[in-house]
Amino acid sequence: MKHSTHPIVLKQKLLGDDLQAATSAGLGAAAKALDAVKGKRCRGAEMTGWFDWPRQRTTDLKRNVRDLAQNIDVYHDLVLVIGIGGSYLGTRAVAEAMSHTHAALLSGTAKAARRPQIVYAGHHLSEVGLIETLDLLEEKQPIVNIVSKSGTTTEPAVAFRIVRDYLERRYGKAEAARRIVATTDKSKGALRQLANDAGYKTFEVPDDVGGRFSVLTAVGLVPLALGGFDVEALLNGADAVFGELRGQVSEDHPVLRYAAARHAAYTAGKRIELLAISEPKLAFVVEWWKQLFGESEGKNGKGIFPAGLTYTTDLHSLGQYVQDGVRNLLETFLVIGESNSRDHVGVERRLRVPTAEGNIDELRYLEQRFVEEVNQAAVVGTELAHADGGVPSQEITLAKLDEFHLGAFFAFCESACAVSAEMLGVNAYDQPGVEAYKKNLFGLLGKPGFEALGAEIRKRL
Ligand code: PA5
Repeated sequence: MKHSTHPIVLKQKLLGDDLQAATSAGLGAAAKALDAVKGKRCRGAEMTGWFDWPRQRTTDLKRNVRDLAQNIDVYHDLVLVIGIGGSYLGTRAVAEAMSHTHAALLSGTAKAARRPQIVYAGHHLSEVGLIETLDLLEEKQPIVNIVSKSGTTTEPAVAFRIVRDYLERRYGKAEAARRIVATTDKSKGALRQLANDAGYKTFEVPDDVGGRFSVLTAVGLVPLALGGFDVEALLNGADAVFGELRGQVSEDHPVLRYAAARHAAYTAGKRIELLAISEPKLAFVVEWWKQLFGESEGKNGKGIFPAGLTYTTDLHSLGQYVQDGVRNLLETFLVIGESNSRDHVGVERRLRVPTAEGNIDELRYLEQRFVEEVNQAAVVGTELAHADGGVPSQEITLAKLDEFHLGAFFAFCESACAVSAEMLGVNAYDQPGVEAYKKNLFGLLGKPGFEALGAEIRKRL
């Protein structure tokens, strides 16, 4: 399928004069930062394998993922993805954006696509949550994709041990092994060893791609292919953006403008960026974006705090704060150009406000207008109201909600985040802050090697 030249459109008319000027002034620095990323001269350069990934490194991966999805030799009607952070958020972002909201409850022709459901574990330590996951597995014929680059993260390791134990008791060791696919480091970590010993099918997380930049690697492609999503389109969408960035890049490029605007806003005291959506299906795209920017930039006492809002829902709760609270906000609207639903054979479906006899609800002025027209008017009205309230905003548009445009959005955000972090003077690819809670957890639970820390912590409580 052919797509228009820019899969991502960025409008910055409502940034306000000062921020617009500061953004323009920062474009040169943004271009320099992008060159440093591309030329592997940036901070954390050894972790920039995600840049131009679809073109450089996916030939074998695409074939192997396709083979896996087509040739899996056990009947299954559920895919359980076990992972946390970058090891599951990208998958969930695509799967939820591209699935019927009620897919799990629907049967028959209303079901948008006949594909196995994807569900998630290993992203929390809730005992109830895990018990309920086991309840679900019991009613289904699951396959499991355990995803952990390090292979040692506590949350997915605990969930995987529980699920593996369940599968082995239910199916026996040999069939359980055929129902498990492991995505992890090519040689290191406990999961690699477990997978080798048990003979699981495995996929590699590349050394030079960190978790939150890994959605286009086997980390995202394997579960999405198992769930029946179009992973080729996802890669093509990303390639369209990387293709624009590969050669000489004009200073006007949306990646540079977005990074420069964030930097200008941060410098002007905007400490929080709100990613506002008006399509609830994008909720996990927002979660993916929050992790990408939050974990990449929030360090050394610096960085914009990324937060998410769902409109119009949140206009009736947090909207008051955005309009009227502390003026330290930058708002970025993520909108879908062509928002509609398709039935199970891909036919477009639209919904108009019906004509009614009376006008008690005072909606006559909306009769026969598409609900989406009302939604879009709410977005524009909100943008203007917030601008009047002193919240600068910008708008990112995906022409359509499909795998191609989601892939483009991932590449756009990864590139902008790398540029933005470089402008801020931080290494986008490490996460030293995440270790603090992990060490305390190990100390509290008595992991060998953490006994002294455990004793110290107990004294503080
Ligand atoms: O972005 C990151 O590196 C992290 O969010 C990781 O993805 C997350 O901590 C999970 O790590 P792992 O895949 O090693 O289990």
